[in-house]
Amino acid sequence: MKVVPGIDPARVPKHVACVMDGNGRWAQQRGLKRTDGHAAGEEALLQSIYAAQDVGVEWLTVYAFSTENWKRPISEVRFLMRLNEMILIRRLDELNERGIRIRFLGRQDHRVPGRLLREFNRAAEVTKDNKSLTLTFAFNYGGRAELIDAMKRMIDDGVSSSSIDEKQVRRYLYHPDMPDPDLVVRTSGEYRISNFLLWELAYSELVFTDVLWPDFSADHLYDAIRTFQERDRRFGKINTSGLKPRRARAKVAATT
Ligand code: FPP
Repeated sequence: MKVVPGIDPARVPKHVACVMDGNGRWAQQRGLKRTDGHAAGEEALLQSIYAAQDVGVEWLTVYAFSTENWKRPISEVRFLMRLNEMILIRRLDELNERGIRIRFLGRQDHRVPGRLLREFNRAAEVTKDNKSLTLTFAFNYGGRAELIDAMKRMIDDGVSSSSIDEKQVRRYLYHPDMPDPDLVVRTSGEYRISNFLLWELAYSELVFTDVLWPDFSADHLYDAIRTFQERDRRFGKINTSGLKPRRARAKVAATT
């Protein structure tokens, strides 16, 4: 595992989730098409995956297409379908060799092209035994849709209302074994969740950066992890350790 100055290896977030926002604005600033920005986002995505893996993150979830993104112009929607398919085709061997497990998170409905779903299923099958990092593509994903799908399946299964608690709801999420994100990073200066992992991020730390997604690099991810390590996560309790996270971080910085 890579030692990064200022990051305490013992408190690296287990699950990081990213909202990869700002590709369109990055392209517009350069007089390019929005789709050129998405294409440029592929490199930032790969950098983030490897940087996360290097520092010991075990789960990385990226918001690649939301249930609301169908409202974008059809040409952009088609481009994003094709881009994700090409990323899976081009990068599968490399990701697999690095021990990365790939998963799809979202609604596998008729709107997602069959060839893209086949690539997602192939990638998931090929990498299913990998243990290093689980890379989840939230695709045709909406937090509300996930909860609606969970409720429908609970009713179809005849789950009684008296047995519904948090554990029961989790069993009906798309990936019940996925731990909740510890850290959510959103790029491009927007301060919202946009229907991402609504149930799962109840206690996640949120970090927002003005950097546009194609410019997002390993260093930006490490900055977000440093910010995460400065936060005091209480989960509704009070902090009894007496040690402020900022002081803990200063101790780490002094020793690295
Ligand atoms: C949510 O904001 C952001 C997303 C769902 C990310 C979309 C990401 C891409 C289209 C690019 C994916 C890039 C690669 C390299 C695969 P929103 O814009 O849907 O929501 P908002 O309208 O609230 O801002």
